Amino acid sequence: MTDTQTNGSKTRPVPADFADNGFFGRDVLSVKQFDRKKLDHICQVADEMRSMVERFGSADLLQGKVLANLFYEPSTRTSSSFAAAMMRLGGKVISINEVRYSSVSKGESLPDTVRTLESYADVVVLRHPEVGAAAKAAHYARKPLINAGDGVGEHPTQALLDFYTIRRELGQVDGLNVAMVGDLKYGRTVHSLTRLLLNYDTSFTFVSPDILRMPAEIIEEVKAAGHSFRETDDVHSVIGEVDVLYVTRVQKERFEDLADYEAVKGCYVITPELMQKAKQKMIIMHPLPRVGEISYAVDDDPRAAYFRQVENGMYIRMALLAAVLGKA
Ligand code: CP
Repeated sequence: MTDTQTNGSKTRPVPADFADNGFFGRDVLSVKQFDRKKLDHICQVADEMRSMVERFGSADLLQGKVLANLFYEPSTRTSSSFAAAMMRLGGKVISINEVRYSSVSKGESLPDTVRTLESYADVVVLRHPEVGAAAKAAHYARKPLINAGDGVGEHPTQALLDFYTIRRELGQVDGLNVAMVGDLKYGRTVHSLTRLLLNYDTSFTFVSPDILRMPAEIIEEVKAAGHSFRETDDVHSVIGEVDVLYVTRVQKERFEDLADYEAVKGCYVITPELMQKAKQKMIIMHPLPRVGEISYAVDDDPRAAYFRQVENGMYIRMALLAAVLGKA
């Protein structure tokens, strides 16, 4: 190691032979940090991680490193895939998934909690219900902090794995028509994925009930970037034109008025009958969990990519952990 040098937003020891990969020592807070070159790099490393896992199961790339997984909201995939990613690379994990059993329940602030955990760890992964919480925590943290979802704001690592899935399944991203269906207002996964795809020549079809339309701020970003898009509440009228059907859950927990939720829950259900109208070469995605938006009968359709998408999440998170820790 050389002496400590400033690298991006954090001050970290830099290896003597280190060529900056654009990630080392940095926080991952928003998809706005990614351009085509960085996306290519992270997908390439994810492919290498896949090959390594298929051949050997694990490696010692991050041996001696510790990840602190701090989740103030429920999670199955993001939490466990970050843990699996770290373990497959030889590192160890501290998990706080039930903040009510931690000192958060005694009133400890987010900055103090993050500063405590980073005293034990090399990288912190944070999920929090408030928009901007990851950026706030990163301001106090000396170690890299990865946003695992901040309320209705962003979910950048989900967008990375979604992007990786589209590229892997369809071989390209330019020229695709991507339809996003369901809760576009509160769905942080569709907010992040839309922004990430602005790096590519994609067109968008936003399908939602009126009260769950894509936020104006994101529509403005789509317009400013010169992408074509349409908004509709009718999935039947667009299913035959799309290359990616990205379905989301209507999130009961985000509604202030439960009557609004009751009015739109179950508004879209993807069934084998609907899929008969879709292209042969297209994919159905979902960040999961699903609560009825995709019928279980669709799971056997080869176009149903959502469990392959889940697996891709581990390889992308392996690539990201290796990158921020200076090993990719
Ligand atoms: N897709 C996703 O974020 O799933 P979890 O909420 O289970 O982490």
